[in-house]
Parts: sequence; structure tokens; C-alpha cells
Amino acid sequence: MPSTGSKGQFSPRIDVNIAGIHFENPVLTASGTFGYGQEFAHLIDLNQLGGICVKGISADPMEGNPSPRIYETEAGMLNAIGLQNVGAERFLKEKLPFLRTLRTRCIVNVFGYSTEDYVRAIEILNEGEGIHGYELNISCPNTRCGGMVYGNDPRLTAEVVAASKKASRYPLIVKLSPNVTDITELACASEAAGADALSLVNTFVGMAIDVETCTPRISNVTGGLSGPAIKPLAVRMVYQTYRAVKIPIIGIGGIATAEDALEFIIAGARAVQIGTANFYAPETALRVADGIRDYCRRKRTHLTDLVGTLKVPHAGAGVLAAPHAG
Ligand SMILES: Cc1cc2nc3c(=O)[nH]c(=O)nc-3n(C[C@H](O)[C@H](O)[C@H](O)COP(=O)(O)O)c2cc1C
Repeated sequence: MPSTGSKGQFSPRIDVNIAGIHFENPVLTASGTFGYGQEFAHLIDLNQLGGICVKGISADPMEGNPSPRIYETEAGMLNAIGLQNVGAERFLKEKLPFLRTLRTRCIVNVFGYSTEDYVRAIEILNEGEGIHGYELNISCPNTRCGGMVYGNDPRLTAEVVAASKKASRYPLIVKLSPNVTDITELACASEAAGADALSLVNTFVGMAIDVETCTPRISNVTGGLSGPAIKPLAVRMVYQTYRAVKIPIIGIGGIATAEDALEFIIAGARAVQIGTANFYAPETALRVADGIRDYCRRKRTHLTDLVGTLKVPHAGAGVLAAPHAG
């Protein structure tokens, strides 16, 4: 039943359910761009966020890469932070108690360099109260498979997802890497291995060079590109993935406005995450949630009825079927 206010104004529902997790609104902050939440408490009302995906956590603490680790590009940023984090045990002791005080859903991003590492991190984190779900970052090289990145290989993806799902006390969101030829292969492998939802995308591998010194702009030589530059690529990947799997999708990549977020939702995402925009405008997620609500009110639709409603003018045309012009 569409709900209407006292003046007959439509009151849209923008809350969403993903893998059994109920989010008050569909806008989360992306892992690695919002610390452990508390760092932003003096800047915005954290209770207004749909969810917080905390910085990637590994079983053991990690130092990260030497600086420079971040470089601003024309339409985004390159980073090679190196997954610096306090480790699962300190996260439970030092970071989770604050997150538990919030109404906002807490999603813990998890990574490792072997399947056993992922499982160990999850087993430690399972002891914590106040976690609503895990987001599995599979953009890491498997040190036992010659550095082959988990998220590039459907077989390795299936292995780590199945083992993590088995170990996990909470719903499992698998975060896909965009550095692949066909993201649907990895999406389907994750779904078949037991993923409850998918989030996409992580950063694109990129590089920038200082031509005066002929040196890379970041110490790691290559880094992950994020921000507005990647948005059309990410929207395309969400669109392709939505058509390939049944589990819910969280869209990520260059979102800074409600219109950006709505592109992802219409392409098939049930929720979105804000990453790079947090660095220069920490209130972005709140602004995006308000803008989505306004749009839904104007269109007299509930959010979930918008998901995947892209109208393709000529049936069969588009990224999956047609060669590209230009
Ligand atoms: C500085 C930085 C650190 C990040 N750290 C992580 C991380 O620890 N785990 C992860 O899964 N993604 C990490 N990401 C990727 C983001 O969560 C997000 O997927 C990506 O930046 C694309 O979104 P955006 O264009 O809105 O930034 C990081 C991104 C940035 C910019």
C-alpha cells in the first residue's frame, strides 16, 4: 500500500533488506574510505547512515605500504595503502564497542593472503557482538598460488567464498574486483559457492608517473583507481552482474550524488557505497540518501521497486550484445 502523508504526499520507503540485513537506507560508506567509523563521528551523524563498511581487517595487524600511498588524478585517485589495519583481535577490543553503540549496520570488510587467513580472520571476528555482516575483499593475491589474485580466478574465488561462508556466523557479501575480463564469471562463482550478496566494484589497477623524475607517483608503482573516473565502468558491471545472478548487489564506484547512486540502482543495485567522496565531502552519504528519498517521492515509488528498472530501447542492444561504436 503506498503510504501518503497528511497532505496526500507520497512517503517512499527507502529501507532495504540485503542477505537478511535490514538497512534503514541504501547508502553505506565504503571500506578503506571511512576508517572505523569513529573518525567521522564529529563530522556527521553516523546514525543516519545505512551502514558502515569498516577498513579491511586481517587476522593479524598489517603496516601497509611506504608513502607516497595516494595520488590525486584528473577524475579520481590512485591509492596503494596496502591494507594497513589493526588486526581482528584489536578491532574487536578497540573499534567494535563504539560501532555497537550506533543504529547503523556494521559490515566488516575481511581479507587475507590464503584461504586459511580469511577463515582465521572470520573465526576471530565471529566472537564480536554488533557485527551485521562480512564483506569479503577478494582482490588480494594468494601467496600460495604464486600471487594469483583470488578475485581474478573463478576457482580460487569459489574456494575462498565457500570456506568463508562455512566459517561465518554472519551473512557474507563478496566484494568483486573489476580487474577481470568478465565480472559475471566471478559473480556466478561467488553465488554458487554460497555468497549471500555481492558488492562491486573495488578499485581498478592504475598507474601515474612523474615525468620530471621518471618515477612512479606512488611507492607501490601501481595503485587502485577510484572516484568519478570509474563510475561508468562500475555501472556497466553492475548491469551485467544483475542479469547474471539472483543474489542482491551493492553498487560502488565514483558515487558523489543521488543521481550517481540512482544510476547504479536502476542498473540493478539494491544499495550503494560511497568511497572516495568521503575524503573531500564526508556528508556525501547523507546527502545521497536524502536525494534518493526525494527522487522516490517525486516518482511515487518505493526504492526496491526501482532496482533493475533500466529500460533498454532496443531489446538485446547494449553492452552484452552489441559491439561498441567509436
Ligand atoms: C584509500 C582507499 C582505501 C581502500 N581500502 C579498501 C579496503 O581496505 N578494502 C576494500 O575492500 N576496498 C577498499 N577500497 C576500495 C573502496 O572501498 C571502493 O570499492 C573503491 O574506492 C571504489 O569506490 P569509490 O570510487 O566511491 O571510491 C579502498 C579505496 C580507497 C580509495
